[in-house]
Amino acid sequence: SSSLRLGIAGLGTVGIGVVKIVQKHADLLARRTGRPVSITAICARDKMKNRDADLSAYRWEDNAMAVATADDVDVFIELVGGDSGIAKDSIEAALRSGKDVVTANKALLAVHGQALAELAEGLGRTLRFEAAVAGGIPVIKAMTESLAGNEIRRVMGVMNGTCNYILTRMESAGLPYEAVFEEARQLGYLEADPTLDVGGIDAGHKLSILSSIAFGTQVNFDAVEIEGIERVSIDDIRRAADMGYKIKLLGVAQMTPRGLEQRMSPCLVPADSPLGQLMGGTNMVVVEGDSVGQIVLRGAGAGEGPTASAVLSDIVEIARGVRLPVFGQPAASLKAAQPARTAVP
Ligand code: NDP
Ligand code: HSE
Repeated sequence: SSSLRLGIAGLGTVGIGVVKIVQKHADLLARRTGRPVSITAICARDKMKNRDADLSAYRWEDNAMAVATADDVDVFIELVGGDSGIAKDSIEAALRSGKDVVTANKALLAVHGQALAELAEGLGRTLRFEAAVAGGIPVIKAMTESLAGNEIRRVMGVMNGTCNYILTRMESAGLPYEAVFEEARQLGYLEADPTLDVGGIDAGHKLSILSSIAFGTQVNFDAVEIEGIERVSIDDIRRAADMGYKIKLLGVAQMTPRGLEQRMSPCLVPADSPLGQLMGGTNMVVVEGDSVGQIVLRGAGAGEGPTASAVLSDIVEIARGVRLPVFGQPAASLKAAQPARTAVP
């Protein structure tokens, strides 16, 4: 049957990771979806940049808008980043020109997810973003599909690979902040603006997206109480270790009688607990459902292969013709939730 034709904007860590999987697993993807999956158009900022993949078979477009609206593109894959500008404009243009969209852009979804979901659903298109939360961990599909028979009570976890990498490497290798930060950059973990990582904002974006799916509420990133890891020192980490604890940037979202609580902050967790043992760029998401009880998902939260793996899960879903509501229920039915503020410790 007909090929599913991809257009990719952004050929950095994640974009190149997606290209490599499509090339490496062409046969596997065709068998699993029942149709060939191919790349037709690509773009990034700098055409001359040396990239770690053979891109010669694909048409280079001058900008993301051209990829988003090309006649020979069925699915537009936005891997540029940024919470507005070209990422938002190109996704809207792609939806309006009849394409489905896949993105890893949690910053954009945390701010404009509601409007984009309504646009997509109004046009009969789909917008998928498995890679936007916890990298390679299939937490969105777990919540929207596998746990769809549950009322979700609580979602919590470690959702930023950079912060977990910094906190654990500072302790285990005894390296200064600057050195471990540079290692995280080499591994492709950092946001283009890494203050989003260490400031807890990136993890807050992710928590706001999970809250929406868990509680059927509109994404409300402004209501997430956030404290980053900038003020956590090596002394803090050592003192916590002396008492049998680790410091983790931990997110918690739960519906309380006062409203929806969403909090992302450095927390002490027992060193011998699953959270305490989470090293490097690993993430962990804990979901509590009324029937299933507690589910623990753990895996690489950032980096080329894991993030591209999640993008591919969305591409495969679209290739199979699956059309799920963007946030697990129709966007127009999502309710605004009263924020329940807590005092961040
Ligand atoms: P990179 O910075 O590695 O790549 C960004 C790419 O976008 C580059 O190829 C860049 O071009 C291109 N680009 C920048 N501006 C434009 C523009 N105006 N028009 C066209 N292309 C442009 O980012 P990542 O791959 O790390 O991240 C991409 C997205 O995935 C972001 O939304 C990020 O938050 C998200 N994400 C990243 C994860 C990770 O582990 N890295 C994990 C989960 C999500 P050029 O190469 O020429 O500079
Ligand atoms: N910068 C993010 C992190 C990438 O470190 O977790 C994955 O979303």
